[in-house]
Amino acid sequence: MLSSINPTTTKAWQQLTVHAVQMKQVHMKQLFAADANRFQKFNVTEGDIIFDYSKNIITEETIQLLQQLADECKVKEAIEKMFAGDVINHTEKRAVLHTALRNFSGKPVLVDGKDVMPDVQRVLAQMKSFCASIHGGEWKGYTGKKIKYIVNIGIGGSDLGPVMVTEALKAYWVDGIETYFVSNVDGTHIAETLKKVTADETLFLIASKTFTTQETMTNAHSARSWFLQHAKDETFVAKHFAALSTNEKEVVKFGIDKANMFEFWDWVGGRYSLWSAIGLSIALTIGYNNFEELLKGAYAADEHFKTAAFDKNIPVIMALLGTWYVNFFDAKSEAILPYDQYLHRFAAYFQQGNMESNGKYVDRSGNKVEYSTGPIIWGEPGTNGQHSFYQLIHQGTHLIPSDFIAPAISHNPLSDHHNKLMSNFFAQTEALMNGKSKEEVIAEGVKEELIPYKVFEGNRPTNSILVKQITPFTLGELVSFYEHKIFVQGVIWNVYSFDQWGVELGKQLANKILPELESDAVVTSHDASTNALINQYKALRK
Ligand code: F6P
Repeated sequence: MLSSINPTTTKAWQQLTVHAVQMKQVHMKQLFAADANRFQKFNVTEGDIIFDYSKNIITEETIQLLQQLADECKVKEAIEKMFAGDVINHTEKRAVLHTALRNFSGKPVLVDGKDVMPDVQRVLAQMKSFCASIHGGEWKGYTGKKIKYIVNIGIGGSDLGPVMVTEALKAYWVDGIETYFVSNVDGTHIAETLKKVTADETLFLIASKTFTTQETMTNAHSARSWFLQHAKDETFVAKHFAALSTNEKEVVKFGIDKANMFEFWDWVGGRYSLWSAIGLSIALTIGYNNFEELLKGAYAADEHFKTAAFDKNIPVIMALLGTWYVNFFDAKSEAILPYDQYLHRFAAYFQQGNMESNGKYVDRSGNKVEYSTGPIIWGEPGTNGQHSFYQLIHQGTHLIPSDFIAPAISHNPLSDHHNKLMSNFFAQTEALMNGKSKEEVIAEGVKEELIPYKVFEGNRPTNSILVKQITPFTLGELVSFYEHKIFVQGVIWNVYSFDQWGVELGKQLANKILPELESDAVVTSHDASTNALINQYKALRK
C-alpha cells in the first residue's frame, strides 16, 4: 500500500511556493543568456532519445526543490512497491504490474507470493505461435483462405493503445494484413468497418479485460451475427473469433473456443494493457518480433526509471515539471505535440492514460484535495496544430506546457519534407521560449497601431523529445516514460492512479435509461430536462 502524504504539508511545497513567486519574475530568455551550459544542465540523453527540458521556467534550485518534493512524497518507495507487486491499486485491491509484461530481466515477479512470469511467458508464446500461423497462412478461414483482415473490437484501454501503436508503426505492417478497430457503440462504427472486410478472411479479436463492457459486447454480438449471415455455420466461429480477456467464464459464454482465448490478469490495468494479450492486434499487424521489440523498449525505459537518479530520470523529471506548472503556475492543461504523422493518436492515447489515472479529487486518505491534480491532456500532430490552436499557446491567456516529440529520421524521406517539418519543430519551441519583444517588432517597421498584436511575450515552457527514429523499440521507451510520469504525479498528488470509479456513474445511468427507451411509456423518473429529452427522442424516432 502507498503511504498517504498531503503534498502541501511538505517542506518542499512551502519552499516551492516561495520560489515560484520569484520564478514568475524570470524570463527564460534571461536564463539562457546567463548560462551557456543551460542545455547541458537540463537534458537527459538515453540511448537514441534526447530529452531537452532546458526551455522550462526553472533553475537548478527549482529542480532541486522538486526532487525534494518527490523525496518527501516517498516517490522512490512507491516505485519500488509498484515493481515489487505491492497492492498499490488499493481501492480495487490489486497489484499494478504492467512492467511484468515486459520484464526481460529473467527475474521473478511475485504477486501473493507466486511468480507471474511463467504465465506472462506462456501467453507471449501463445501469441507468437498464433501470429506465425496467421502470417504463414496455416490458419485458414472457413472457405480455406488465409486471414487478411484483423478487426479488433474493444474500447478504452482495450482499443486506444493498439490503435495508437499500430498507427505509429505503420511502416512495420506485415504485408497482406489489414487491421481495423471498432470501439464506439454507435452502429456506424461497426457497420462502416464491415463494409471493408470479407467474412471468410476476417479474424475478429474481442478485446475486453472484463468481457462485460456494454460497447464491446454489443459490437461483438453484431460482428458475430454478420459473420454467421455469411458463414451460416456456428462451428466456423472458432476460426474467426478470438478473445483477449481476463474473464474465461464470459468468453466461453459468448461462444469463443477456450483455445482461442489469450489471457491476462487483474494486475494489468486497462489503460496499461497494450503490453499484454490486448496487444495481439499489434503483434498480428506489425509481426511478433516487432511487438517484442516494443516490449524491450519499454523494459529499457523501466530499468532507466527504476535506477536513474531523479535528476537524470526522464519520467521523474517529466512528472516534476508537470507538477511545477499545475500546482505553482496554475496550468490547467498540457499539450502533446508529435512532429510525426504516424504518432497522430499519441495524445489521444495519453488522454486516457493520464486523465483516467490522475483525474481525481479524492486523496489516498479518502479526503477531498485542496490542490489541483491531473491536467487536461490534448494535442495533435505538428504542423497541423500550428494552423489551428498554436495561436492560443503563443498569445492566449493560459499557460500550456507542451511536449514536442520528433524523429530525426523519417520513414518517408520525400524530397525536403522532413527538414521542413523539423524546421517548424525547432522554430516553435524557440518562438515559445523567446517570444518577440516590442523592440524587435518596432525594428521590423511595424505600424504603431499593430505593435501590441505582433508582440509575443514568450516564456512558454516546452520539452523537446528528439528521437533517432520511431521504431518499435523507441516507441516502447516513449510510452513507458509517459506511463511512469503519470505514476510519479499520482504518487505526489496523493491519489490512487490505477482505479477509475469516475466512469461508473454514467454507465449505471445508461443501463437504467436503456429499458426506458425500449418501452412505449412516457418517462417521468428523471429531472425535467432528462425526461423531456428522452420523451422528445422517442417522439422523433417514430
Ligand atoms: O473507461 C473505463 C474502462 O474500465 C477503462 O479503464 C477500460 O480501459 C475500458 O473501460 C474497457 O474495459 P474492458 O477492457 O473491460 O472492456
